[in-house]
Amino acid sequence: MSEQDVKIEIDRLTDLLNEYAYHYYVLDQPKVSDAEYDQLLRDLMGLEQDHPALKREDSPSERVGGEPLDHFKKVQHDIPMLSLSNAFNEEELRDFDRRAQQGLGHTPTYSCELKIDGLAVTLKYENGRFVQGATRGDGTTGEDITSNLKTIASIPLRLKEDVTIEVRGEAFMPKRSFDRLNEAKEKNGEQLFANPRNAAAGSLRQLDPKIAAKRNLDIFIYSIGQVQDKEIDSHHEALQYVESLGFKTNDQHKHCETIEEVITYCEGWLDKRADLPYEIDGIVIKVDSLKDQEKLGFTAKSPRWATAFKFPAEEVVTTLQDIELSIGRTGVVTPTAILDPVSVAGTTVQRASLHNEDLIREKDLKLGDKVTIKKAGDIIPEVVNVLTEQRTGSEKDFHMPTECPECESELVRLEGEVALRCVNPKCPAQIREGLIHFVSRNAMNIDGLGERVITQLFSHQLVTDVADLYKLKREELLQLERMGEKSVDNLLTAIEASKENSLEKLLFGLGIRFVGSKAAKTLAQHFETVDKLKEATRAQLEDIDEIGEKMADAVVTYFEKPQVDELIDELKELGVNTTYKGPKPISQEENDSYFSGKTIVLTGTMEELNRNDAKAEIEALGGKVTGSVSAKTDLLIAGEKAGSKLKKAEELQIEIWDEARLIEELKR
Ligand code: IVH
Repeated sequence: MSEQDVKIEIDRLTDLLNEYAYHYYVLDQPKVSDAEYDQLLRDLMGLEQDHPALKREDSPSERVGGEPLDHFKKVQHDIPMLSLSNAFNEEELRDFDRRAQQGLGHTPTYSCELKIDGLAVTLKYENGRFVQGATRGDGTTGEDITSNLKTIASIPLRLKEDVTIEVRGEAFMPKRSFDRLNEAKEKNGEQLFANPRNAAAGSLRQLDPKIAAKRNLDIFIYSIGQVQDKEIDSHHEALQYVESLGFKTNDQHKHCETIEEVITYCEGWLDKRADLPYEIDGIVIKVDSLKDQEKLGFTAKSPRWATAFKFPAEEVVTTLQDIELSIGRTGVVTPTAILDPVSVAGTTVQRASLHNEDLIREKDLKLGDKVTIKKAGDIIPEVVNVLTEQRTGSEKDFHMPTECPECESELVRLEGEVALRCVNPKCPAQIREGLIHFVSRNAMNIDGLGERVITQLFSHQLVTDVADLYKLKREELLQLERMGEKSVDNLLTAIEASKENSLEKLLFGLGIRFVGSKAAKTLAQHFETVDKLKEATRAQLEDIDEIGEKMADAVVTYFEKPQVDELIDELKELGVNTTYKGPKPISQEENDSYFSGKTIVLTGTMEELNRNDAKAEIEALGGKVTGSVSAKTDLLIAGEKAGSKLKKAEELQIEIWDEARLIEELKR
């Protein structure tokens, strides 16, 4: 073949394969068999290999994933990527409609769409060619993930018209791909993704595009960011236009004339959502006319012309098979429901905490009962209620044991507590749980020492108290299951590194009653060394702002024990640091930080900051970070997908910042 003929053939195959892919991935109407497609692709790739200069930039071979990157470039969005306000019920949808009518002076029509639960991306095309794709980031600056996005088969590399346009949409992982991915991960003993959204985000944040290419991601385009030389009057026309260019849109959208129709549409999806092949977390309602949209404009964070109707947490029915008991590090007995596996909000659930005996009584749970479960905050599985009307008579009563299932000593109920406790300090379950706590992230943070390894170390009697962790030998560790040379070396390095931790991590890790990580920090900052803390009296402790009577008492009682003295001496001898290394707390007078003395709530997902770090930094600057919004809150930091806290803060007219504003203030 002459060079000219090869070019003609490469062009022909590229166009043909792109057309086939469009029918398959965008329209969901395959034109040829997979085998035929694969053969044509191999032909094309063969020619491209011999004539690399003739390879087109919209070649389907681009989809396999290019070279790994060493970082993602930052991308400044020409038009910010905002988020949406929320409506949690019918009343709030009507409020949204009322506000829109007031703002416009007439009744608008609405475009309703599914709110796909993935991650927002923006795609830029120049003269019909895909040139850049980016994440939302903080709304102003995102990350350039073009090479990962190219691997998504439903993103056209070249449009049907040579337009210059920026479109926005939601990249997501279909439920089936998610289940397959997690099955494979489970087989390899790897950590599973919590839900399809995390899986999609995790895949698109990989520096190696070959990984994203294997993840079967998909996209729905839901709006135009900007476009040159095209007049469009309404949102539904915009969707038709992007479809005509070759983009994939979601076909469940509906143009509604009234808010009544909107409400019916939203309610209809409450049941139907489970049958969709992808996850949705609500419905997006947009004023349809673009002129109306312009008139309504934006608040600092979100358009006034759109809102998201959020679904209540999904509830499903399953059977309570058994109730298992576990003993925590403080001896508390926690019953856990063992359930027939069911899929809830994107993951398979087989266990749910029942918290304590009272809850079992209150709900009148019997083994074999049909129960409804949901995920609180869409994360933690919880039993909502029992379907008593479905009882057959074969259900069995559950009785809490009187003895600890691990050490057989008698369980007691301390005065004023709902929990049953094993009070045997030598109970193996408590010791094991204490060790797991000691190595956990907010405590000594020893990577590679999870629950599995600790359980092994404990059952091989290599470790019986926390000091033993610092005496572990390489040879001993090598004998453990699934511990190769490399993991052993990494583990020993992590253990060694933990010796340098600042005092608060050790204090929290020791598991003194009532001393959480925050109190541990306060104590460490105040006393600076474990020896000084050991000498502290109840009165001295109670003098500290955040330390109450109960905690002061627990600290003194803890350090009075001779075994504790021995343990601390042993840890010191083994080289574990027992002094505070962090910054001194800034006194009120010298602290001119914005956060000083303010009560702040963090909510939603942070993109750049880690929530714990953000909290620590605010606290170091004298701010108090609390969990719920009240009239006492001075400031709410709202990340992405902020929900009820944001709403409440708006109602209470509390100052609200986004993540970018927080970062700015922290940098000052
Ligand atoms: S429109 C001004 N339409 O929901 C923002 N967003 O808080 C306009 N989302 O992260 C967004 N499906 O990525 C719109 N059909 C849809 C959507 C959708 C999912 C996501 C979006 C953003 C969040 C909005």
